[in-house]
Amino acid sequence: MNTFDPKSIRSDFPVLSRRVNGRPLVYLDNAATTLKPQTVISAEMDYYQNFTSNIHRGVHTLSEEATDRYEAVREKARAFLNAHRSEQVIFTKGATEAINLVASAYGEAFLKAGDEIIISEMEHHSNIVPWQLLCERKGCVLKVAPMNDRGEIIFSEFQKLLNEKTRFVSLVYISNSLGTINPVKKLIKEAHKYEVPVLLDAAQAVNHFAVDVHDLNCDFLVFSGHKLFGPTGVGVLYGKKELLEAMPPYQGGGDMIASVTFKKTTFNTLPYKFEAGTPHIAGVIGLGAALDYVKEIGFEAISKYEQDLLEYGTEKLLTIDGLSLIGTASQKAAILSFTLPGIHPHDIGTIVNKEGIAIRTGHHCTQPVMAHFQIPATSRASLAFYNTYDEIDQLVSALKTVKTIFA
Ligand code: ALA
Repeated sequence: MNTFDPKSIRSDFPVLSRRVNGRPLVYLDNAATTLKPQTVISAEMDYYQNFTSNIHRGVHTLSEEATDRYEAVREKARAFLNAHRSEQVIFTKGATEAINLVASAYGEAFLKAGDEIIISEMEHHSNIVPWQLLCERKGCVLKVAPMNDRGEIIFSEFQKLLNEKTRFVSLVYISNSLGTINPVKKLIKEAHKYEVPVLLDAAQAVNHFAVDVHDLNCDFLVFSGHKLFGPTGVGVLYGKKELLEAMPPYQGGGDMIASVTFKKTTFNTLPYKFEAGTPHIAGVIGLGAALDYVKEIGFEAISKYEQDLLEYGTEKLLTIDGLSLIGTASQKAAILSFTLPGIHPHDIGTIVNKEGIAIRTGHHCTQPVMAHFQIPATSRASLAFYNTYDEIDQLVSALKTVKTIFA
């Protein structure tokens, strides 16, 4: 029996009390960004109101407080990911910057012309373009593991792509447009047979279930704070220590150096080597509050509830005549992409918005996924633990209205 109660949790999220177009907000766009609990908003405000100062740079009280609070989040993020050491946690602007960091720093140092990089057909543009840019700079070759029509990576095809020229694999954990949960542990194990490092884009995973870098044995993992009920503009790169240590810096500036002369600069140790300039201090502190928040609820309860919601949503959407689900993998997170024949997703999004329902429509920054299914776009309802069965019913009813309008 699932005793999880989303109704009491909803009061933690101030924006859920607002109305849109005269109706209570139904927020089903969690894959684009999640809502923020009051604790996250208050933690950011606390920094600005009570101890604004720079970190790692002052002996005064405010700077020491800010530094302590900032570094405490590094430890929380370490524990969240079950990483060995906190210096394996690098704060970035988000998952996108973290992937660019690895593609640039690791790619520049260790990849050369002819080396092959494997991604999958269902990657977000943020896990395609940085590798294409690297391939252009270095003459590497990008290989794409195809997916089947359910939206699952075809394991045998992935195996076929791996060879002695493969030097890097970068894969999405959960597809933002399909909801597929990839069997990443199995894929990583396979890549490791060729001693190839694997980066996981966990941007859509960290809010749905516990992610354990030790158990997965991934070499790098990235996520964004804003998809984990935290602030925008902050994210995490986790990396194996020996790889991070071997990599050159990504950006130059303050805090990432050990010493600077005009002749020679030496670099700081991990993690600071990769955190040039004043970081998003308030954002990191807000992220810490988000990590505390999900820990308090617990991923066991979150995952169970969201899976029930996904099952209910799938069943209900399929009662709509002509609706096609895009993304029907056997392992899915609570993301429901769909099309309605003859109705453009943007029209669907606009009409349901009139009833206060927020969904995302478009290609979801995954144009190759749209190309696979030969569609320009989908409508996507992406769920979080504060969503309810009633909200799904409201979406279904609004979609029936859309169908009536276009009949
Ligand atoms: N990548 C985000 C999404 O899927 C923005 O909507």
